[in-house]
Amino acid sequence: MMQPIVLGIETSCDETAIGIVRGRTLLANVIASSVDEHARFGGVVPEIASRAHLEAMMPSIERALKDAKLSLKDIDAIAVTAGPGLVGALLVGVAAASGLALGLQRPLYGVNHLAAHVSVDYLTHHDALKPAIALLVSGGHSSLLQVNDITQSITKLGATMDDAAGEAFDKIARVLDLGFPGGPAIDRIAKEGDATAIDFPRGLTTSQDWQERPYDFSFSGLKTAVARYIEATPHHIRRDVAASFQEAVVDVLLLKALAACKNTGIDSLVIAGGVAANSRLRTLAAKRCQSAGIQLRIPGPELCTDNGAMVASLGSLMVAAGRPPTSGGFDADSGLPVERVGL
Ligand code: KG4
Ligand code: ZN
Repeated sequence: MMQPIVLGIETSCDETAIGIVRGRTLLANVIASSVDEHARFGGVVPEIASRAHLEAMMPSIERALKDAKLSLKDIDAIAVTAGPGLVGALLVGVAAASGLALGLQRPLYGVNHLAAHVSVDYLTHHDALKPAIALLVSGGHSSLLQVNDITQSITKLGATMDDAAGEAFDKIARVLDLGFPGGPAIDRIAKEGDATAIDFPRGLTTSQDWQERPYDFSFSGLKTAVARYIEATPHHIRRDVAASFQEAVVDVLLLKALAACKNTGIDSLVIAGGVAANSRLRTLAAKRCQSAGIQLRIPGPELCTDNGAMVASLGSLMVAAGRPPTSGGFDADSGLPVERVGL
């Protein structure tokens, strides 16, 4: 039997993104970003994002169908990010998906953005679904998850107590005058910097923290330490600050992710979300996982940041597992918890 073709729609933040997969094969991945319209505000402005989604939706769907050499009637199922995210932005995607599903008479799956980030890995690594620890690091979330069956439920082991990892990158980039979004900019200049130049703090890694909250993160102390250092050091070297900051984030993310693997006996680690595009995180993860005998799965950098392929991927896994589609009309849920994979 031919594998089902699933179209995925993602509009939780500032990317209007459409992905099309056949089974686990990626056929199209179109991303229209409104990031330039937000840059001068130093962060995403919800109203601007919603309007940009409205404008970009139909052209992006048409473009994706063209890339995949398909027409709308070839689509077997539709998946859409139902949350978490900006409510006005999510609504544009949910409305478009509901309209398509109704018009085409196809099943509709409302899925979780965070689970979708993790599930995109299955487009890259085709081996069977098995329990994995997932380190999910994005602009809005940083969590350690245990994933036994991504189509069913996810268990949260820990999360950040303050800023998300990507948020910390964005804030430090602002202090260093590197623009928005900050992650890619820090990644770039850190390559020329000395990561050992400044010994910035690793949050929640005292022996008491390892006892009480082994899988939680905190980046606010690090953020303050970097800001103080910059203030106190008028002739600081920007690339060294960026590299040392990045090292502190990446080090602590991996320390906790590998501890989760070790303590649960799970030997597979998936790293997902926008920060998983970070080159230092990718290199250090490969090194540490190899010495710990853990299979590392990180999607290609272009599939780490928000995209539609990840939504289509989760939809496709739902179809394959025989999960029921989301029934009736449904609302976007801006606070959808990570444990709920679908609506
Ligand atoms: O997953 P994502 O695209 O959107 C959310 O769901 O939040 O993640 C965006 C975040 C931003 O904070 C951005 O600065 C960060 O991911 N990011 C990076 C890199 N590329 C994107 N952080 C560090 N290094 C990168 N190369
Ligand atoms: Zn995301």
